[in-house]
Amino acid sequence: MKIEDLEKKFQDRIDAGEKIEPKDWMPEKYRKTHIRQISQHAHSEIVGMLPEGNWVTRTPTLRRKVGLLAKVQDEAGHGLYLYSAAETLGISRDEMFRQLHTGKAKYSSIFNYPTMTWADIGTIGWLVDGAAIINQVMLTRTSFGPYARAMVRICKEESFHQRQGFEMILTLCNGTAIQKEMAQDALNRWWWPSLMMFGPRDEESPNTEQSVKWKIKRKTNDELRQQFIDITVEQAKVAGLTIPDPDLKWNEERGHHDFGAIDWSEFWRVVKGNGPLNKERLKARNDAWDNGEWVRDAAMAHSEKQAQKEELKKAV
Ligand code: 3HC
Repeated sequence: MKIEDLEKKFQDRIDAGEKIEPKDWMPEKYRKTHIRQISQHAHSEIVGMLPEGNWVTRTPTLRRKVGLLAKVQDEAGHGLYLYSAAETLGISRDEMFRQLHTGKAKYSSIFNYPTMTWADIGTIGWLVDGAAIINQVMLTRTSFGPYARAMVRICKEESFHQRQGFEMILTLCNGTAIQKEMAQDALNRWWWPSLMMFGPRDEESPNTEQSVKWKIKRKTNDELRQQFIDITVEQAKVAGLTIPDPDLKWNEERGHHDFGAIDWSEFWRVVKGNGPLNKERLKARNDAWDNGEWVRDAAMAHSEKQAQKEELKKAV
């Protein structure tokens, strides 16, 4: 069959809402886009554990420690599902790690910001996981089967992450004046970087048009960002917090909130590796890889020994 016919048949399947499975024929660009997006999504989950890990030994109560530990462990699991989904497209786990450790692969810009106070941990759950849920619920309907299925499990756990974060924020806002001030300070620092999580404006996105055509994206970056803003503005009101955007206002005609200009120079500075903590995050991942070599060797030696035992059993 000619390539044009294969591509037409593939697009017909996408238009009919069929799920594409790893062994199905797919355009090389479709495969490459998924390897890029899914591996970077996985890297985001793994690097995303670092800002929170910093506070596991500093939680104000045992209950908060249990919640934070559970969340950080969930993120590791999300990374595992996503690396496994990416591997179905022919890239090895080691290659994905190499791309992350050498700075070749991206991870979400949001994880390059510091967690200065305990309120940051609540704000990460509320805003960062809140933004991730908006994006990931959309991805439960993405056209690549393994990715869509991984998202179903991940979204269930993300909603716990967002709920525990928002509960922390409400606790602070209903606490002392200093605690409320801490929550407002965290919102002031995390609001704009959270909006940047959805990626550049649609007109500046080199990938969105094709990703929408292939139903990789069922909504565009700007549509998801707007959905996040409209939901989060109401939550901030419940907490009695002020969103740090003087241009934020409800637009009856649009049925959405208008909002101020995002500093895209900051976005690209962070994406290109020059954010507040990019170097520290990459070093932490490289150190973990180097210090964990003995664990990988032991696990490999064990599995080789097991395989030899199985062979011997078969030979007898
Ligand atoms: N941080 C870093 N890089 C970003 C970015 C961000 N917030 N937003 C966009 N980019 C990069 C893209 O990767 C792309 O670069 P590349 O082509 O070299 O990979 C470039 O900027 C142009 O952006 P596009 O919008 O054209 O790229 P995409 O079509 O890939 O859309 C995306 C970007 C919306 C982030 C999309 O990749 C996506 O939906 N990814 C899956 C979800 C995801 O990765 N979320 C990250 C957070 S996960 C998380 O928060 C974990 C939770 O448990 C806390």
